[in-house]
Amino acid sequence: RERKRQEGVNLLELAASFYRERLKMAEGQAARDYLARRGLSEEVQRDFGIGYAPDDWEALKRHLSARDIAEAVQVEYGLLVQREESGRTYDRFRDRVMFPIRDVRGRTIAFGGRVLGDAKPKYLNSPETPVFHKGRELYGLFEARQANPRLERVVIVEGYMDVVALAQFGIRNAVATLGTSTSEEHLSRLFRMVDEVVFCFDGDKAGRQAASRALETVLPQMIDGREARFLFLPEGEDPDTLVRREGPEAFEDRITCASPLSEFLFDQAARGRDLGRVEERERFASQVLKAASRLPRGMLQTVLLGELARRTGVDPSRFEALLAVDEGAPV
Ligand code: GTP
Ligand code: MN
Ligand code: MN
Ligand code: MN
Ligand code: MN
Repeated sequence: RERKRQEGVNLLELAASFYRERLKMAEGQAARDYLARRGLSEEVQRDFGIGYAPDDWEALKRHLSARDIAEAVQVEYGLLVQREESGRTYDRFRDRVMFPIRDVRGRTIAFGGRVLGDAKPKYLNSPETPVFHKGRELYGLFEARQANPRLERVVIVEGYMDVVALAQFGIRNAVATLGTSTSEEHLSRLFRMVDEVVFCFDGDKAGRQAASRALETVLPQMIDGREARFLFLPEGEDPDTLVRREGPEAFEDRITCASPLSEFLFDQAARGRDLGRVEERERFASQVLKAASRLPRGMLQTVLLGELARRTGVDPSRFEALLAVDEGAPV
């Protein structure tokens, strides 16, 4: 299995160098212009290994096949697509800016490719392969650790461009999920390396929904000593647009001021409710209690219930009792 992995990694590394080379050549001019328009210096492009897949159905296939790599293997690792009817193969990524996705050891395991214009799909990712599992990998994690071996906090953003744009401005601790929502696996992986995560999704409806889902996912992982916070961006902004507009200091300030988990939780439960009314207070308390029941037993849970008690005027022991019933423990 390790030999297999090695074979795949070598192949993907060959592809990554191929894309990087092509970015430098004449055919890469439009992609270089695009990257410049998006404000990415050559240094950041180099740090992230950004390249260009030429506008050609077989450029990569020819390059790899000339190096004796079987087409079947190129298909297996997602570089070629195989038509079902004819069996014909062609390059998956064409005329796109290429972002290599690396594992924590820096080995290329997949790619994300962005169109230069407005064509659809905007981003194309490698499919699941023997070395790439979308729900597990985080774009930029290797690069973040390279830039800062003593990483203490990561900022989780939505997109490749957000990670790279923040890095361009010296904020080198951002990672992105790959078009999936944040999974438990992502979080347990991150919490093995850092004590704090800051969720920073786009300032739009999808971004706010992603934050609510992230809250649900992170609750069971909140053992004492860990911290999760939520940064909400102004409507219509994403980290890329905002850091460009406001600069890195303002963005760092936003990170510093991001809402702690408890604050987001209480705000969300209180939203649209008149807590002067008993029934609405009941729903508020039920929602907070439900979240609290998903926290591991510990100080955060205890203090959260204390705060819920304070806000509802109910004795905290009542909430402890309800929680115990919920967990099926004897009352
Ligand atoms: P830019 O337009 O380049 O700034 O990208 P963005 O990162 O702001 O994109 P957006 O907010 O639309 O989407 C966030 C992330 O979702 C992207 O980085 C991708 O990982 C993913 N995504 C967006 N569009 C597509 C798509 O068409 N297909 C796939 N597979 N993923 C996408
Ligand atoms: Mn899988
Ligand atoms: Mn968005
Ligand atoms: Mn975005
Ligand atoms: Mn964007």
